[in-house]
Amino acid sequence: MSEPYVSIQLQHDHTLPLYRQLYFQLKQAIKSGILPPGQKLYSIRRLASELGINTVTVVQAYRCLERDGLAVAQVGRGTFVSNLTGLNEKESPFSPNSVNNISRAAPDSWQVPVSPQAINFATLTPAAELFPVDDFQSIINQILARDRGQAFGYQESQGYYPLRCSVAQYLAKRGIVCDAESIQVISGAQQGIDLIARSLLSAGDRVLTESPTYTGALASFRARGAQVIAIPLQEDGVDIDALQQQIKIHQPKLMYVMTNFQNPTGICYSVAKQQALVEICHHAGVVLIEDDSFTELAYDGFERQAIKEWDKDNQIIYIKSFSKILMPGLRLAFMLAPQPLQPKLMAAKHIADISTSGLLQRAFDLYLRQGLWISHLDYMKQCYLARYKQIVQAMRTSLPPQAGFSSPGGGLCIWIEGHAGLSANRLYESCLKNGVIIAPGSHFFPDNRDSNFFRLSFAALSEDAISQGIPIIARQLRMLGTADHEPRRCFSPLL
Ligand SMILES: Cc1ncc(COP(=O)(O)O)c(C=O)c1O
Repeated sequence: MSEPYVSIQLQHDHTLPLYRQLYFQLKQAIKSGILPPGQKLYSIRRLASELGINTVTVVQAYRCLERDGLAVAQVGRGTFVSNLTGLNEKESPFSPNSVNNISRAAPDSWQVPVSPQAINFATLTPAAELFPVDDFQSIINQILARDRGQAFGYQESQGYYPLRCSVAQYLAKRGIVCDAESIQVISGAQQGIDLIARSLLSAGDRVLTESPTYTGALASFRARGAQVIAIPLQEDGVDIDALQQQIKIHQPKLMYVMTNFQNPTGICYSVAKQQALVEICHHAGVVLIEDDSFTELAYDGFERQAIKEWDKDNQIIYIKSFSKILMPGLRLAFMLAPQPLQPKLMAAKHIADISTSGLLQRAFDLYLRQGLWISHLDYMKQCYLARYKQIVQAMRTSLPPQAGFSSPGGGLCIWIEGHAGLSANRLYESCLKNGVIIAPGSHFFPDNRDSNFFRLSFAALSEDAISQGIPIIARQLRMLGTADHEPRRCFSPLL
């Protein structure tokens, strides 16, 4: 189909972000029929280049259109004007009010094609060469010899009972007392967050999150039609005054937090803030969700505590994933929920996938019982520590002095504040052109705003790759430091 003419006028000095301007103008063109149903929109790269903006801005505008049900992204083909635009938005399965609207929430819509040679500071996924493949092969062989066909039957929805017992023992060593009956095995932490959203939220409910936060959680809450209320993070945890104020205004149902080595900032809450958070939420009747992917990854010798340890009244839903230390492809995690919430969560798990793979649950149970998990955790901490030291040192040596960051002492990422006026979205673009991938802050702020913040992760990179990549980022930062002060141009492209 040929491309109709649409004039886009973007004003760089306008208070409305560029992506909102682009979104509104495209929306207008769709509503007025200039862009008819089925029309293919310009490719992200082409439109970005025509308009002289970065691709992230176009992705954000297209994503807003998808959320409204006005456009549909097709893998490998591009983005098309939806055929449903004539429908009343409320009736459309793509309506922003519809809990069935998955496109608005797709966390993967932000994925970029990555060349295998690229130095990827954007992913938190551990490098495959660190996976304990030989140990797992041996464990799976033992399970097959022991359980034969049983290993391939349907598993109890709540999870393989012996695994739940091993997990309860493991948690007890970390100061979290529970029994196997309160544990729900889940297919990754993301599934846990999603099950909570499905079973506890309705359209219009409010959920508090840290700002910035993990984007997959935002996606799950929004997929239920919930409104996300962002609470700013300070160096030692969320801003408690803002938290109290927002609770009063919005009476939220849930609050989602990561109190140790938070993704993306690496922040650890002070003990005082952990306790205040638990108390405030308890008194306000807000269910706390603790996503604990990183607590064990402390490299500075100080062990951190999960807030679940303070949870005397059993108010917190605790989620723990094994993706970042073991292997993300196992899709194994577990959830510990207050008793009154368990039946709903268990029902949601059954509806979602009946059960997490029985074979892998049995294998992981044996892995824990044979002490392999503990030795693997030690090994991963050693590897991550070497990478952490390397990235901190390379950043101290190479980054311009205007770029600030603090060393979190653990976790898998470092949050950097570039010089004032930096657009991290533009930095992302220019790094990408130079074979380096970073994660701009817009990905993690609930309102997707561009800013001078970005996240670097060292999980997937060797020390060599880290020392090659950081100077490239530093160079791009310096270049944008001057380019950002150039007067910006307006474009009027044809679409
Ligand atoms: C904070 C946080 N929670 C959950 C997840 C998803 O983890 P899983 O692989 O267990 O679903 C991630 C993945 O990066 C994450 O960073």
